[in-house]
Amino acid sequence: MNERPHYLLLDADSGARLGQAAAVPGLSAWECLDRAGLRLRTTCRGSTICGLCRVEVMEGGEALPPVQPDEAMLLGEAQGDWRLACRIHLPPGQERLVLRARGVTRGGVG
Ligand code: FES
Repeated sequence: MNERPHYLLLDADSGARLGQAAAVPGLSAWECLDRAGLRLRTTCRGSTICGLCRVEVMEGGEALPPVQPDEAMLLGEAQGDWRLACRIHLPPGQERLVLRARGVTRGGVG
């Protein structure tokens, strides 16, 4: 089955599937998840200031561009597969990114 490009979000503690969001060209993972009502922790709403939108990339992260210094500073001790959702986009030609996060809440579809 061919699926539309998307983000799949899992709970970092339980591994439970929280939902998925269509990948929209030009929008970050944070924006796409937010549009789908999957609210990552944030105080800056996707402006790469707060550093709270951390996600662990479980699958599909090989084609992501490397972490830049400003993102690394906000990630702090979280390294390895952890990224800021507001700084990553589904790489072209890729079907999905599987992400894990803590503290996700659900809101109305934006
Ligand atoms: S939403 Fe604040 S740094 Fe990503």
